[in-house]
Amino acid sequence: MCGIVGFIGKSPEKVLLDGLKRLEYRGYDSAGIALKNGDDIELFKAKGEIRNLEKIVPDKTSAEIGVGHTRWATHGKPDEINAHPHVSSDKKWAIVHNGIIENYLAIKAKLNAFGYEFYSETDTETVAKLLEYYQKKGYDEITSLNKTVNALKGSYALGIINKNSDCLYFAKNKSPLFLAKSGDEIMLASDIICFKGFAKEYYPLVDGIFGFASKEKIVFYDNLGETEIKPLPLDLGEYDNLNTYKHFMIKEIYDTKTAIKNIIEYYGVKENCDRLADYDLSEITKVKFVGCGTAYHACLLGANMLFEKTGIDATSYVASEFRYGNLSLDNKTMVVLVSQSGETADTLAAFERAKESGAFTVGIVNVEYSTLSKKVDVSFPIKAGVEIAVASTKAFSSQLCVLNIFAGIVARKLFKSVDPLADVRALYEKFDYGNVNDFKLLADVLRYNDKLFMIGRGDDYCVAQEACLKIKETSYINSNTYYAGELKHGFLALIDEQSYVVVFATNKEIFGKTVCNAEEAKARGGKIILFTCFDLDASDADNFYYIIKTKELGNSLQAVLNIIPWQIIAYYISVNKGINPDKPRNLAKSVTVE
Ligand code: G6P
Repeated sequence: MCGIVGFIGKSPEKVLLDGLKRLEYRGYDSAGIALKNGDDIELFKAKGEIRNLEKIVPDKTSAEIGVGHTRWATHGKPDEINAHPHVSSDKKWAIVHNGIIENYLAIKAKLNAFGYEFYSETDTETVAKLLEYYQKKGYDEITSLNKTVNALKGSYALGIINKNSDCLYFAKNKSPLFLAKSGDEIMLASDIICFKGFAKEYYPLVDGIFGFASKEKIVFYDNLGETEIKPLPLDLGEYDNLNTYKHFMIKEIYDTKTAIKNIIEYYGVKENCDRLADYDLSEITKVKFVGCGTAYHACLLGANMLFEKTGIDATSYVASEFRYGNLSLDNKTMVVLVSQSGETADTLAAFERAKESGAFTVGIVNVEYSTLSKKVDVSFPIKAGVEIAVASTKAFSSQLCVLNIFAGIVARKLFKSVDPLADVRALYEKFDYGNVNDFKLLADVLRYNDKLFMIGRGDDYCVAQEACLKIKETSYINSNTYYAGELKHGFLALIDEQSYVVVFATNKEIFGKTVCNAEEAKARGGKIILFTCFDLDASDADNFYYIIKTKELGNSLQAVLNIIPWQIIAYYISVNKGINPDKPRNLAKSVTVE
């Protein structure tokens, strides 16, 4: 979603544009930068891609400070007026903002009464005008900022410049923000990937922090006064090196094997695997798994794994439903929050609800410096490395591996003598990416189709849901998932000669039943694609329009071997259709608004 970069140093126009490009993957629909040039603040804003902004920003300026932003529209349409930075009426302040100011209408009304006028539909503009309001009352810049943030309700990460100051001002509440220093240069960013190549460590700002940075110093404040933040080492690996791949999505799918190896190494270390050692779980009566999108699909499978290994009642919820749903939560409940980014607003809100009810909270999170990672009682990192493509791939497989290990750790606590890593090790031994030529051929067939159904039972159904989501996200194909047994209860009415029905059948016990359901669709003209890990004899194989095979594993991480072919198929359909799979239309990598 929205992204922030701020900079003090040489050529801020270049550094800001480069930083914004690094944030592109999060999704945006307009971008802008503000540069302090002498005693003036110059604004550049453009709708659409950053290259539109690049065209209007001069190659060279004498500015030494600036802020930049990528905006994913919430309040007001994506246009140049609503794009950030926003400025105060006296043009002294320019600000960029991530998050949502919930009381912006009340602030606007108050400022209106004092004669302030507004040019945009955004909540952010009220913050710029509030800074001006306090400064005009005689307060200095930092006191004006303090008074402004005290008046705000909601979430915000703010990057601010003032035309009479050489400082970069900042404030954070419930929206990520980080700061880094290299020599006398300073960078502010909503994602630490902006710091790669700039600094070796960074300051993780916490909620309630505000302050300023200059060439000479960085000063942090909280509500008690000046405070200290210890820098952390910056270690991002080679995430941004595409090697020979054309897109991050395919590169990240092929990162999966390394990610699994990293998981085995990490959880192979006793203290990492003993994360629950200090907690008494004997009273836990139910476990609720919560996530959004792909992470929710991981929850569905994670709940099955936990139940299978421990017998504990485990259910899954989409975070936005968990937040407001009629649920029974108490201190005998464990809530497991799954999130790649650890910043998804609905998942964070679900966490707050779980916490208020006294539940024990666990995070299964990729971004280890994220809000969720820091807030939960115990966090299990998934070690997938930075994931750039909007469509989550390696993170999904890694979530499944860590959910499996987590279930094993709980089982070991309750029943002893369980090796939590056994399933993941078996997966790693058998792991491969399958017959990509077969996948490409199917991708070619499906690219022209707009009636795609996927059916399955149990874990197969959960993986089919994720496969369907990948195809929707990256190929814009209208694909839907159904429980195999539900075909005859409605959806058969949709089947005709143009329909493709993919049957996920990788569970031996119910293979026959699931395939029978597919026959019902075939009898109505549907073309049946079998997805299985079993060998079929030639006469059985003739029943199907196409067969996609994966390996048989024999434990619940079969789900990982099952999703990889569909991630690859989704990728090739997308590329065949001329879509950029890394940045599908209308979507954002990390959805930081409700
Ligand atoms: C967005 C992304 C999805 C992701 C979901 C949850 O919708 O486009 O790919 O699965 O958010 O994100 P999280 O970071 O919480 O896993």
